[in-house]
Amino acid sequence: MSAPRIREFRRVVFFTGAGMSAESGIPTYRGAGGIWKEYDWEEYACQRAFQRDPEKVWDFHDVRRKTVAAAEPNAGHRVVAEVERAQPDTWVLTQNIDGLHRRAGTKNLVELHGSLWRVRCDREGKVTEDLSVPIASRRCACGAYLRPDIVWFEDALNRASLAAAERALEGCDLLVSVGTSGVVYPAAQLPVIAMKRGAVTVEVNPEDTPVSELYQHRLRGPASAILASLWEV
Ligand code: APR
Repeated sequence: MSAPRIREFRRVVFFTGAGMSAESGIPTYRGAGGIWKEYDWEEYACQRAFQRDPEKVWDFHDVRRKTVAAAEPNAGHRVVAEVERAQPDTWVLTQNIDGLHRRAGTKNLVELHGSLWRVRCDREGKVTEDLSVPIASRRCACGAYLRPDIVWFEDALNRASLAAAERALEGCDLLVSVGTSGVVYPAAQLPVIAMKRGAVTVEVNPEDTPVSELYQHRLRGPASAILASLWEV
């Protein structure tokens, strides 16, 4: 079966993961050089770790902010933003917290796992945007610690984000999964919703994943090259 052509679809939804930003020089989580190979998430990326040692968790996230601040959106991000400009019903459901889709110009965006660039008062819950690198202050004016506004392991997904993602999937006729191992729920359930509703499904990844057999098209290669080929006239 030849690969679907994005221009022939009406409601394209991109479901993206860390591999989408790999060509921007940002490490993925699993596989070679993965962040969770070097760091134990139970020490750095869950509320328990934050309660136990907020400074250690902030040191880890400041390193991530520095890496991401030095990165640029890649050609893959730019193709995704161009698709939305040409086909305004396009949506991006990203698991990434790096903000690169937004910087590339994507507007119809659901950041399922939050963003490195937002912080939340651990006492009041107030969320603010903060682009400082390193973070200008780790504490809220009320004195409590700020925490990254990220969905950490063991956190529930933000209900509004999940609802927005499900709305985006209504009428989806092409689901393109890009650069995700597809193993983290409930986000990983979203492509399955599109599949059950009859969307054509594409997995873009240099290698097989534990969910590859769910996809009708498995396009093996880096995100930017494959996305360019799916979009070319
Ligand atoms: N282009 C496309 N895909 C790539 C590229 C590339 N250039 N390089 C690597 N990949 C693929 C890898 O083969 C892998 O399947 O990207 C995928 C990255 O998988 P993970 O590291 O597991 O990242 P992700 O799926 O986004 O993780 C989901 O887990 O740790 C949590 O909350 C975190 O959002 C994250 C979630």
